[in-house]
Amino acid sequence: MTINIRPVQPGFVGEVTGIDICQPITPDQVAAIERGMDEFAVLSFPGQPLTDEQQVTFSANFGELEITLAGQMMKPEMRRFQQLELGDISNLQGANTEALRAREDSRRMYALANRLWHSDASFRAVGAGYTLLHSRVNPSKGGNTEFADMRAAYDALDEATKRDIDSMIALHSIVYSREQIGVAVQGDSAHLAPVRHRLVETHPVTGRKTLYLSSHIGAIEGMPIPEARAFLRDLTEHATQPQFVYSHTWQVGDLVMWDNRTVMHRATRFNDLQEKRDLRRTSIKGTGLAIADSPALQAAE
Ligand code: OGA
Ligand code: MN
Repeated sequence: MTINIRPVQPGFVGEVTGIDICQPITPDQVAAIERGMDEFAVLSFPGQPLTDEQQVTFSANFGELEITLAGQMMKPEMRRFQQLELGDISNLQGANTEALRAREDSRRMYALANRLWHSDASFRAVGAGYTLLHSRVNPSKGGNTEFADMRAAYDALDEATKRDIDSMIALHSIVYSREQIGVAVQGDSAHLAPVRHRLVETHPVTGRKTLYLSSHIGAIEGMPIPEARAFLRDLTEHATQPQFVYSHTWQVGDLVMWDNRTVMHRATRFNDLQEKRDLRRTSIKGTGLAIADSPALQAAE
C-alpha cells in the first residue's frame, strides 16, 4: 500500500488513501503525513473505523497529546470518557446512554461556541498544533465542520493592512469566546487569564505567514477594546470568505486532521435536540514559539 494524497482543494485540503491508520504506522508514513500537513493544512482519511485507543495511538505519532480544558474542568461524573486525552464532541448526556443533552444542559451551552470560527486552544500560551477529529455518528442533515485557510487569507490582504498587523499582539482567553454567546465560564482563574499571541505568525516548518485568528481573541494590545473588536470582525470576515473555506460533510469513519496554526474551523448547525452526532477529538500540543520565547518579539519590545 502506498500512501496517496488527492488534492480536494489544492494547497489546502487533501484526501489520504493507501494507509490503514487503525494499525501502527511506520516512521516513513508519519513523515509522509507530516509533509502532507505542511503542503495542505487539512487532511481527511476516509473509511477508518478507529477505536478510541487506536485514535489515541495514531495521534501520538505527531507529538504530545493535549488534555482539553472542557475535560479538565468537567466533574468526572459528567464525562463520557475517563481518558482525558479523548475529547467528547457529541451531544450525548453520558457514557451509557443514548439520551441527548437537554436544551439547557451546560455542556451544550459550552459546546455551542464551536460554531464560532476558532483555532483550538489558542487561549493557551502554546496553542494546539494538529487536531484530529473522528466521526462515529452523524445527523441526517447539517453538522459539517468548516475550515478556513489563514495563509491564503493573509496573502490576500493589501500591503498596508499587512504592515499594520505585522507586530500586533492579540489577547486570547476562553472567557472571550464564551462571552460572545452569553456563557459565563467558571473555573480556575489560571486557565482563564488572557495569553498573548502575535496576530501574524510564521509557520515553523514552511515559513509561510498566517493569520492567527480565533474567537478566543478579545483584545489587541495598545488598542481600545471596541476598536480591536470591530477590527477583528473585519479581519475574520475577510479570512472566512468562501474562497478560503472548505466544508467537510462527515461520513462515519472519517478522520480529519488540521493544523490549528494555519486554519480556523467551526461546526455548523444541526438538529441537536433530536438527532445524535458523535465525534471524538484528539489534539497535539503546538510546537510553534510561545510568544515569551520569540526573540524577534523581545527585540521589538
Ligand atoms: C472541535 C471543534 C467542530 C465540530 O472539536 O474542536 O471545533 O464540527 N469541532 O464539531
Ligand atoms: Mn475546535
